[in-house]
Amino acid sequence: MTANTYVGAVDQGTTGTRFIVFDHGGQVVANAYEKHEQIYPEPGWVEHDPMEIWENTKRVITQALGQAGISPDQLEALGVTNQRETTLLWDADSGKPVHNAIVWQDRRTTDRVEELEDDGQVGTIREKTGLEADAYFSATKAEWLLDNADPIKLERSRPEDIRDRAEKGEVLFGTIDTWLVYNLTGNHITEVTNASRTMLYNIHDLEWDDDLLAEFDVPEAMLPEVRPSSDDATYGTTDEEGFLEAEIPVAGALGDQQAALFGQTCFDAGDAKNTYGTGSFFLMNTGNEAVESDHGLLTTIGFQRSGEDVQYALEGSIFITGAAIEWLEDISLIENPAQTAELARSVDSTDGVYVVPAFTGLGAPHWDQRARGTIVGMTRGTRKEHIVRATLESIGYQTRDVAEAMEADSGIEMTSLKVDGGAVKNNYLCQLQSDIIGSEIVRPVVDETTALGSAYAAGLAVGYWDDVDSLRDNWQVDREFEPEMDRDDADELYDRWNDAVDRSLGWATD
Ligand code: G3P
Repeated sequence: MTANTYVGAVDQGTTGTRFIVFDHGGQVVANAYEKHEQIYPEPGWVEHDPMEIWENTKRVITQALGQAGISPDQLEALGVTNQRETTLLWDADSGKPVHNAIVWQDRRTTDRVEELEDDGQVGTIREKTGLEADAYFSATKAEWLLDNADPIKLERSRPEDIRDRAEKGEVLFGTIDTWLVYNLTGNHITEVTNASRTMLYNIHDLEWDDDLLAEFDVPEAMLPEVRPSSDDATYGTTDEEGFLEAEIPVAGALGDQQAALFGQTCFDAGDAKNTYGTGSFFLMNTGNEAVESDHGLLTTIGFQRSGEDVQYALEGSIFITGAAIEWLEDISLIENPAQTAELARSVDSTDGVYVVPAFTGLGAPHWDQRARGTIVGMTRGTRKEHIVRATLESIGYQTRDVAEAMEADSGIEMTSLKVDGGAVKNNYLCQLQSDIIGSEIVRPVVDETTALGSAYAAGLAVGYWDDVDSLRDNWQVDREFEPEMDRDDADELYDRWNDAVDRSLGWATD
């Protein structure tokens, strides 16, 4: 029974919130989007207002349904996907956050991570969580909130501090999936892929890790229950009395990068995708084996379906790619992102200019929290076109950094890469990417694969789709890009990129 029914997905990203309604063929029926404020209280700090995110979520759901003339009860299930690692705490009684959410890009806990390095904890953290110790992940953010959030904000003055209340389960921890599922269903639940980004979750035992909870002084009572990403039992339903006035099962959730892996139907070991959003995240499914990286990649959970073992992934996390284009706009070098291709094409090369957009440190494969953005190679003849082109090229080079690490770790030579995310609409960027990595780039028809992946997870759980094979049939190629650049030329440019990266490392002193 699928003719007039659909599955909806909330895609809560770093810059905004989207709701997409998909039909049984995996096609987009309605799509609504809203940006939210980026709050920068101090250099290197990034926050979001969780209430604004929840209000926007309700608004985009209502808008998209209105656009398509679909009533809520035509939705067979809802899926959620989200910016990962971003951390918040809220009061269980009032449902109100105790502080703004600390965003994944935030660097305020750099010193704390360096303490972990000095204490020799990095190896244990990697073993248990598959992650490089870094301020990127939730653990040090949760610790910071427990130490610094203001009890007055709990909306009643109680003498106890937030940690005391957290120990009694009166203050709750969540990543953004947890926050949205809590608001949609009333239940305090996360799922394995988001849990695997907290640096508190043991990805082998599939449990919150007691040693890490002790290290970061995070009380277990405040943590959500961890469920599969596609959950036949569902996480709960929306409330008939709530904004949708209908009971819709919320049955699937995945961190946005894992959702894109699922939406690109990378269900088997060796399947890989790269998503170009605020940052870029290159994931390869490694099946039921948690492959350890020797080249600076993360080992993470790819997804889990009810009753099945988890599938793991190797991940190359690049913090800034699309955000570098936004920065060009912020500093008025361009008027809009679409202009970048035209400006870049108007010059033959960058004339030796390299932009390393390490605005929030560098992730894979360098993992340098103190790296900062740099532009090198400028001369008196450097024009904005060169800088724009060098910024686009930095996206390609950073992807090559992680693609090479992926090949070295997996032993699989990459001949073709599935891409998605907002920036892949830019044909110039796709061709550039193919030239720099020397592999075919494949862009699917539905490039909203993040939302699609969580819709698939939710739809599979409630039987809207029978099995993953029917999802593979939905996947279609839009366009393929073949490498055109001479390999020696590409390698020479890439060597200089590595020199430029060296100059950005270790820059920040505070
Ligand atoms: O790990 C951070 C990532 O999930 C953010 O994704 O698409 O919001 O940039 P995006």
